[in-house]
Amino acid sequence: MEASAATLSRIGLAGLAVMGQNLALNVAEKGFPISVYNRTTSKVDETVDRARQEGALPLFGQYNPRDFVLSIQRPRSVIILVKAGAPVDQTIAALSEHMESGDCIIDGGNEWYENTERRIQEVSNRGILYLGMGVSGGEDGARNGPSLMPGGSYEAYSNVKDILMKVAAQVEDGPCVTYIGEGGSGNFVKMVHNGIEYGDMQLISEAYDVLKHVGGLSNSELSEIFSEWNRGELESFLIEITADIFKVKDEAGDGYLVDKILDKTGMKGTGKWTVQQEAGLHDGVVSVKSGIDKKRLIDDVRQALYASKICSYAQGMNLLRSKSDEKGWNLNLGELARIWKGGCIIRAVFLDRIKKAYQRNPKLASLIVDPEFAKEMVQRQAAWRRVVGLAISAGISTPGMCASLAYFDTYRRARLPANLVQAQRDLFGAHTYERIDRPGAFHTEWTKLARNSTAGVGSLH
Ligand SMILES: *[C@@H]1O[C@H](CO)[C@@H](O)[C@H](O)[C@H]1NC(C)=O
Repeated sequence: MEASAATLSRIGLAGLAVMGQNLALNVAEKGFPISVYNRTTSKVDETVDRARQEGALPLFGQYNPRDFVLSIQRPRSVIILVKAGAPVDQTIAALSEHMESGDCIIDGGNEWYENTERRIQEVSNRGILYLGMGVSGGEDGARNGPSLMPGGSYEAYSNVKDILMKVAAQVEDGPCVTYIGEGGSGNFVKMVHNGIEYGDMQLISEAYDVLKHVGGLSNSELSEIFSEWNRGELESFLIEITADIFKVKDEAGDGYLVDKILDKTGMKGTGKWTVQQEAGLHDGVVSVKSGIDKKRLIDDVRQALYASKICSYAQGMNLLRSKSDEKGWNLNLGELARIWKGGCIIRAVFLDRIKKAYQRNPKLASLIVDPEFAKEMVQRQAAWRRVVGLAISAGISTPGMCASLAYFDTYRRARLPANLVQAQRDLFGAHTYERIDRPGAFHTEWTKLARNSTAGVGSLH
């Protein structure tokens, strides 16, 4: 028997693993009646039980795709939260069979953006709308307020806008959701967001490495330093949780837990031994000049971390900009910085400044040429170079900080040595080159001219 119009749910959610359950409870808690479905019926019962325990939330379990779809009011919006790839296609096939023109599927998983673009096409044959929506913030975010990045059909977004605005994390300048753009833009933006997140984590771990192995800081000192940093320009969720990590003792033995964790991303086993053997560096750290000024090192590392972070965000934003230009998504970079201010893992006060930089100039070529950020980078570059130099001398790899510094220097230099690369390519492949003093493409018979020339011969002797 089909439910009567009065009892239809406002929205549906299929796929009740951790993220799905939490997001469904969040929607229900905000007062929007929601139908939930999972092939594994115990998942449905589990979610219904949780909704009851949390105070009779308007959440309704359904046990087959047809009943599930028909329990939602039209135009129907169905969020799916299943593993990316084939499971998404299977779920779409099972549900869309019962859906009608004007209904919408919202994929909330971490999907490759081109898969979303393919699915938009596929379901459009039947008039079904589609959104690929990045959801950030993990389990806690899904339940209490995530950052949401919906891209695809604007009409479909409008149908659920009121729900998303309530469900998303709330910060002082509004809910952490905005319509991202057409096609797979929501998934692409979420992907770059995750890249920025991992960049932040890498930079923080490099700062830790330098403080610990060059500065000799203990875990309790590290915890204090990160807490202090969290009261300044670096204030963010990741700096805050890092301070907490250094406080936790190992319950299974002596010392701190962080020191017992396998460095899983590091090079292991025979590869590591070979390098250590060859370099004669069994402890891995080369001792640097004694007499390190600890206080100064800590302050330098803070500045290096901040400057590197600006470069990392600048690169992420430029990746979004170039994809946006290529696909015609018309991404609003300032708005993206705004919706990352709450809910997600990279939430930080710093994002408000990025938002403002793009408000000042939406066409900004790079964050590092914004007058405010440029000034900060210049003020911090001496400290930044000291830290990277010290790390190199000590044999401690800081790939994130080094790459960020290289990015900054590439922007800073008036001329790069690519003129020589162009000359080499023209010599061996007649690829032609452009000149600094006149327009056009030029080719030169380099070898012939060089052989005929006596210029420079013997001048080095
Ligand atoms: C239901 O649950 C199982 C495992 O708990 C999961 O693999 C599956 O993808 C879920 N989703 C749907 C829509 O059935």
